[in-house]
Amino acid sequence: MYVLGIETSCDETSAAVVKDGKNILSNAVSSSLNFHRKYGGVIPEIAFRKQLEKITAVAELAIQESGVNLKKIGLISVTSGPGLLGSLLTGISFAKALSLTLNIPLLGVNHLHSHIYANLLDNKLIRLPVTALVVSGGHTSLFYLKDFNKIELLSQTQDDACGEAFDKVAKILGLGYPGGPVIEKLACKGDPKKIKFSCSGTRGPLDFSFSGIKTGVLYYVRGQGPRARAQGKADIAASFQETVIDALVKKSLLACKLKNTNRILIGGGVAVNARLREKFLSAAKEEKISCYFPPKELCLDNAAMVAGLGFRLFQKGQRSDLSLSADLN
Ligand code: KG4
Ligand code: ZN
Repeated sequence: MYVLGIETSCDETSAAVVKDGKNILSNAVSSSLNFHRKYGGVIPEIAFRKQLEKITAVAELAIQESGVNLKKIGLISVTSGPGLLGSLLTGISFAKALSLTLNIPLLGVNHLHSHIYANLLDNKLIRLPVTALVVSGGHTSLFYLKDFNKIELLSQTQDDACGEAFDKVAKILGLGYPGGPVIEKLACKGDPKKIKFSCSGTRGPLDFSFSGIKTGVLYYVRGQGPRARAQGKADIAASFQETVIDALVKKSLLACKLKNTNRILIGGGVAVNARLREKFLSAAKEEKISCYFPPKELCLDNAAMVAGLGFRLFQKGQRSDLSLSADLN
């Protein structure tokens, strides 16, 4: 079955055609990132106005590139949340209009679950149950999946999301937005053991907290004053990145242990980070846990993962109707 996916949860406008939940035939992505840079973060009003402008052309491109006739699409799968309200409603309204006019079934899917599903695209066979970590600009959450319709939320961040911490630390260091890629690049030139940062304690052992380390970096930088030169910044970036990744690895492997699983799937924008991949792979190997990541382009927001997850859930009998709305939780 051919599924058209639509994703507009944050600053991307994406449409994709995926066959049988696995084969990506097209995955068109248009980002409004450049319009947000000067503000140091995503401006919701700009994001959804750009999405309104782009959505039709992006969907047309995805259909055209897939070579699939619109009449052959068996399902329209759309991100229904969590995300920015105006952005989500743009994608949902577009998907509903298409579903109604072409008489194609409609399904709203969860954005975080679709980040996990990105691991199964391109014919990857991964047996369930698994533990999963989603690390993005808006979320840091651990899940236990018996199946894609049986997902248990194990824990989440008590304050800032992991990607948000990268973005805020980059701002403190004057490196621009988004922070993840610049911090990663700078960290390569720094010493990860140079500065002792730490992540705050959490209520539950699987919860996350990244707000304290961001404040720690802020005070450290203030304390340095004008002395903080290039090497100093690289050491801060490396030490911050290492501490954050260590917390992610430690808690994810603890979740595997507590849920008695030996497989972990990782997804979301921060999963692009090469140091994170390296540390996860080596720590998981020691614990005899198989660790999976999507290809880098599928870690970031895209509609192929939405189409793939939609197919799985549709097979299990899930459907939405025209009352579908944004779910911000
Ligand atoms: O999943 P995503 O594209 O959007 C959300 O759903 O939030 O994630 C975006 C986040 C941003 O905070 C960005 O700084 C972070 O992912 N990110 C990275 C890297 N590339 C993007 N974080 C660390 N290292 C990277 N290489
Ligand atoms: Zn995302």
